[in-house]
Amino acid sequence: VSNMHFKSATTGVTTKTMRNELNRLVQTVADPTTKRKCREQGLRHGDAVLLLPLHTLPHRKGQEPGTLPKVTTPDALNKLAVLKVNGGLGTSMGMTGAKSALEVKDDMTFLDLTVRQIEHLNTTHRVDVPLILMTSFNTHEDTLRIIKKYANQQLRITTFNQSRYPRILKETLLPAPQTADDDKKSWYPPGHGDLYNALLHSGVLDQLIAEGKEYLFVSNSDNLGAIAELRPSIRSVDQQILQHMIDTQAEFIMEVTDKTKADVKGGTLIDYDGQVRLLEIAQVPSEHVEDFKSIRKFKIFNTNNIWINLKALKRIMENEGMDLEIIINPKTTDDGQAVIQLETAAGAAVKHFKGAHGVNVPRSRFLPVKSCSDLLLIKSDIYSLEHGQLVINPSRMFENTPVIKLGDHFKKIQQFQKRFKKIPKIIELDHLTVTGDVYFGRNVTLRGTVIVVANEGQRIDIPDGCILENRLLSGNLTM
Ligand code: UTP
Repeated sequence: VSNMHFKSATTGVTTKTMRNELNRLVQTVADPTTKRKCREQGLRHGDAVLLLPLHTLPHRKGQEPGTLPKVTTPDALNKLAVLKVNGGLGTSMGMTGAKSALEVKDDMTFLDLTVRQIEHLNTTHRVDVPLILMTSFNTHEDTLRIIKKYANQQLRITTFNQSRYPRILKETLLPAPQTADDDKKSWYPPGHGDLYNALLHSGVLDQLIAEGKEYLFVSNSDNLGAIAELRPSIRSVDQQILQHMIDTQAEFIMEVTDKTKADVKGGTLIDYDGQVRLLEIAQVPSEHVEDFKSIRKFKIFNTNNIWINLKALKRIMENEGMDLEIIINPKTTDDGQAVIQLETAAGAAVKHFKGAHGVNVPRSRFLPVKSCSDLLLIKSDIYSLEHGQLVINPSRMFENTPVIKLGDHFKKIQQFQKRFKKIPKIIELDHLTVTGDVYFGRNVTLRGTVIVVANEGQRIDIPDGCILENRLLSGNLTM
């Protein structure tokens, strides 16, 4: 604790306030050494400490203290490769194929948008940044189908497959599959932390290093804000992070962002025994979960946008190996079987790298689609596309995007698609809550706060062309 740099990566504030702030934070991982350190610091037991390895940024000439440098040369970009972790199914949205194959905007899938972004980066700067996709046995075919159409284009796309692990039956603790050929549902991809082993064993790590690539930018395939190009219009900082990485010689940078009430479950960075670590909610004892979720106690969370020095990665894989904390994920399969999955998270690798730290980035760099409510926002007129990148419509009068809460009837993607004949116009919307059996017609406009509640056994149809402004609709309505 005492050795931490109390300086914000974005504001450059190095003050007593921050130290006081840290002192107020609750420690969720208690161990004897940390407890001793707390006592030495005059902190009460259970009172203290931790997080934010906010780094003291070195000053460059002409650079504001605590801000990131602005320049990145094409030379640096030529040493960059971009990787999307793309092994997950998006089960929470009811998907059975690769989530990245979902059409999100203007008939384009997540993957199409990523391809456009990188093509644009390459043509604008005349560089050769390759795109690498980590797939799993669940997503490989879907991914190949989508990228086939880019085969004759300039952008180099490489795919490699992550491992599949046997699910463990909760009752007997025996593996679910009986043989290697057993059904897909007996296996699972063991989390995005598998990235490092998969990169090594596929030969892609060596291939990248041999091509002269030194840096890898990793992000979730469903994070539409994780762009690899400087777009001043949305205050992107990515190339500045690359430059910052070069300047500081940090081997690993995790983009973190301010936590809001919507992200209470996101992993955070902690100082554990003098070492930067990722702390996931699944690792927190139940009596501390509320502390973990508190946006006052843990102020930032991991966006899973990660910058990695490839040579350092190779060194770690060849020496100590990538030992990551195992996250136990209890699940119930579609056929009602209770199983256990042992998973790892890519961000947990932070502890292995020299100079690893978090950089606090604007929220615009974290724009994931985790639910159909997120999807409605992305598909709507709030955003338009520029070279595969989402930009907020300039006619939106407010800085924030509307809060959208679609109920369980809209949870699965098939239901969502059925219930919106067309995505409503929401440029002037602040808040939308929809619960129950509700259907939206074409050219519907929603403004201000709109709440639509269809009670059990009732159905509400919002007709074509309807304008709802600051309205509460409930009951059994066919308008
Ligand atoms: P999440 O764990 O958030 O899952 O993945 P998800 O894909 O959104 O789906 P559900 O709804 O929780 O099932 C974050 C990113 O990590 C990738 C996913 O493809 C996504 O881009 N991922 C996840 C992998 O590449 N491999 C895995 O084993 C798990």
